[in-house]
Amino acid sequence: MSPVVRVRVPATSANLGPGFDAFGLALELYDELTVVPRASGLSVEVTGEGADAVPRDESHLVVRAIRAGLSSLGASVGGFDLHCTNHIPHGRGLGSSAAAIVGGIAAAYGLTGTPLDHPKVLELANELEGHPDNVAAAVYGGFTIAWVDGVAGRAVRLDPAESLSVTGYVPSTPLSTEVARGLLPEQVSHGDAAANAGRAALLVAALTTRPDLLLTATEDRLHQEYRAPAMPESLALIRKLRDNGQAAIVSGAGPTVLVLGEATLEPPEGWTVLRCGIDPVGAQVWSEARAADRE
Ligand SMILES: Nc1ncnc2c1ncn2[C@@H]1O[C@H](COP(=O)(O)OP(=O)(O)O)[C@@H](O)[C@H]1O
Ligand SMILES: [Mg+2]
Repeated sequence: MSPVVRVRVPATSANLGPGFDAFGLALELYDELTVVPRASGLSVEVTGEGADAVPRDESHLVVRAIRAGLSSLGASVGGFDLHCTNHIPHGRGLGSSAAAIVGGIAAAYGLTGTPLDHPKVLELANELEGHPDNVAAAVYGGFTIAWVDGVAGRAVRLDPAESLSVTGYVPSTPLSTEVARGLLPEQVSHGDAAANAGRAALLVAALTTRPDLLLTATEDRLHQEYRAPAMPESLALIRKLRDNGQAAIVSGAGPTVLVLGEATLEPPEGWTVLRCGIDPVGAQVWSEARAADRE
């Protein structure tokens, strides 16, 4: 009989300013899953973030990812009980969908007793998520640079500077990634594209060895301002923080504002502040024999 599987998977922030669709950072804020195999049927129990909104059937994103993971491994289980303890808020640009997908795939590896194959997990997670930036950081931890090779999601992982921590300003209302993506223009100027390419390259240096350059290195001309109509408060907060010398950016597709470093500015009313370090390892899986099997 398959073991009970536990998974821990980090929140992630993508884009980080100029690294649009490519850069990701794993955060020390986690969703946890427990999967208990059974002969047939499905039960889904959710506590914490999203508990009042997510479905409890086969359409639940973690369940879909477990099924996809099992099928990629040529395996199946009759049924299972899934328990989700969620700390990553949904629809805020902190990678909850990536965590659900990567967590589900990791659980499938645990259920079949297969050690995590990080490049394969990333490929499947990219297929399910539709873009590789958040899932790459959720798989590998640390600072990731992701790209798509044909249709395959790939990434390299770098160690962020040891002193790096982040401050998130998280609004109380969500913004779907789909809505935010719809605001981007079809074309941008050569000047803007060139500026972003240079800043993205600089950000690799700033995040790994030159944190003193983070403010300049997080300047973006490709996506943040275009999305201002969908999140005016976020962009106003970013301008204020940047004027104070802090490397503030839109986290993923927003509306969370992320400062690379420590920030002390009070949040707008109703927003919460999240302070955390960088997760170094990405998704982790533990399998344990079930009490019934041990007896
Ligand atoms: N832990 C989870 N369990 C089930 N579904 C989830 C989970 N996390 C995210 N989702 C699904 O993904 C949606 C949020 O995805 P998205 O709009 O990409 O925002 P985010 O920036 O949080 O990833 C949720 O509304 C929900 O449908
Ligand atoms: Mg998402």
